[in-house]
Amino acid sequence: MIKPFGEWRGKPAHIYEISNGSLSVGISDVGAAVQYIKVKTPSGFTDVCPGFDDAGEWAKSGTYLGATVGRVANRISGAKFSLGGKTYNLSRNDGQNCLHGGIEGFDKKFFKVLTEGAQGDDWHGNMLQLSLFSPDGDMGFPGNLNLLVTYKLEGSSLGIIYKARSDKDTLWAPTCHAYFNLGGASAAASSCGDMLRINADCFTPSGAGLIPTGEVRRVEGTPFDFRDFRAMGERIDEKDEQLAIAGGYDHNFVLRGEHAACAFSRESGIKLDIYTDMPGLHFYSGNFLGGNSAFGALAPRAAYALEAQFFSDAANIPSFEKPLLKAGEGQTHRIEYKFGRV
Ligand code: BGC
Repeated sequence: MIKPFGEWRGKPAHIYEISNGSLSVGISDVGAAVQYIKVKTPSGFTDVCPGFDDAGEWAKSGTYLGATVGRVANRISGAKFSLGGKTYNLSRNDGQNCLHGGIEGFDKKFFKVLTEGAQGDDWHGNMLQLSLFSPDGDMGFPGNLNLLVTYKLEGSSLGIIYKARSDKDTLWAPTCHAYFNLGGASAAASSCGDMLRINADCFTPSGAGLIPTGEVRRVEGTPFDFRDFRAMGERIDEKDEQLAIAGGYDHNFVLRGEHAACAFSRESGIKLDIYTDMPGLHFYSGNFLGGNSAFGALAPRAAYALEAQFFSDAANIPSFEKPLLKAGEGQTHRIEYKFGRV
């Protein structure tokens, strides 16, 4: 199914809905972004992923709701990095730093919809492929980069695959910036009651400008201990230096393995398991949310993002795994959202 999604830069935008009876997911051509995820429950479908109903409002909102983030998710300090003896200066869009790919990151771009038939009005499918060409020097990043994003429904899972190739050595670290409120997305509701477990023993504390200091700290004895289920907001207002820096959670967790996290809502009974092949999970508790979503004005903490990613500022912190994409070598990254019942 294809629906109008307002306009972006004078061009009509669209939402492509993929569905399979268990899930119904809306993906916009602007930003290849997840605008909603409706999950089948015994009493009908519940939307657990807030989005917008207008491309312009969405792209300007600064929330990155559901966006395919690129070229590099989260922050690059000083908006520069060195590779192969050369220093690359990037777009500064977060103080002195580069956030989520820069001022014209992938969230601002029209992706090309490749799926055959998906341009027709009566199209129904359970898979959508979108591509983007990002030229050499885009936002300062080296290399002509070709990206293919695949969204695929299998049972109650939404799989996302990012396939990228560049003609020069470059950095490549995507994420899906979907936000969740498993009790049912709505503008004013708080998501603080969602139960959350993050399969991580350590997180990476931040300093000024939310740039990680390079330290890897054990979560034990801190409000960052999500090794067992606890309500997302249970400790969010505690007096803690790291929570104060971010106004809540806005931190990277060091994953133990591919099963990154599990969350559920006691109200709706909806459960979400997240899997990824990337090393980190950035948990952002929606501290700065605002703007007009499809539901109305989104309140801070109305939803939270669980972003599978390479560690923030891995571009500049030598002890963090660098998200290197070698010239001519294709690279694939994977995120899976698997829904179920509590
Ligand atoms: C960042 C936040 C930012 C949010 C929306 C998150 O990934 O870590 O600091 O406000 O995205 O841009």
